[in-house]
Amino acid sequence: MKFFVDTADVEAIRELHDLGMVDGVTTNPSLIRKSGRDIHEVTREICDMVEGPVSAEVVALKAEDMIAEGRKLAEIADNIAVKVPLTWDGLKACKVLSGEGKMVNVTLCFSANQALLAAKAGATFISPFIGRLDDLNIDGLDLIADIREIYDNYGFETQVLAASIRSANHMSECAKIGADVATAPPGVIKAMANHVLTDKGLDAFVADAKAAGIKIV
Ligand code: E4P
Repeated sequence: MKFFVDTADVEAIRELHDLGMVDGVTTNPSLIRKSGRDIHEVTREICDMVEGPVSAEVVALKAEDMIAEGRKLAEIADNIAVKVPLTWDGLKACKVLSGEGKMVNVTLCFSANQALLAAKAGATFISPFIGRLDDLNIDGLDLIADIREIYDNYGFETQVLAASIRSANHMSECAKIGADVATAPPGVIKAMANHVLTDKGLDAFVADAKAAGIKIV
């Protein structure tokens, strides 16, 4: 499973990138707002650092306007994936932009039917939102499994990009289901390293090393 980082925080991306943990980046208007940066400037900086796809989201609502914005965003770098919402207009924009050879990430997906339409419209990535479904007491992981099954049934090449990930548990569950990609905030990716037994075991080793006077360098 590829790891995308869901943030527009350049320093947070750099820390994970230096560890080889970053296969791509996803942003959205809320994350750009949080960064306090200009969308073109921050997206270019991310694209200069990361080799993999960097999703940059359109803000228009009409297909023709989304297409114009998508073309503009795609000028930033070759690794831009234009992000469009899963609306009828978004699907039209997806069809046109993917027809031009651009990567397209169709976002705000909350049903298997929406994912089917995105694949038909030539999406490179479909972004089902797990956490926002969980918030409504609907199991978001079931949606990832349903889309995986449907895409495999028909050999769709659209990649399942699990999004709105809120916990390290979501990451391992997505990997078990077979999501192609999971995009998560930096804190969730770092939390994957945590285990209470690791902490407990390390405390004991540190105490014994001290008691034994172990010195290595
Ligand atoms: C995906 O591309 C979105 O940017 C993101 O995963 C949304 O997550 P949220 O529901 O935590 O805002």
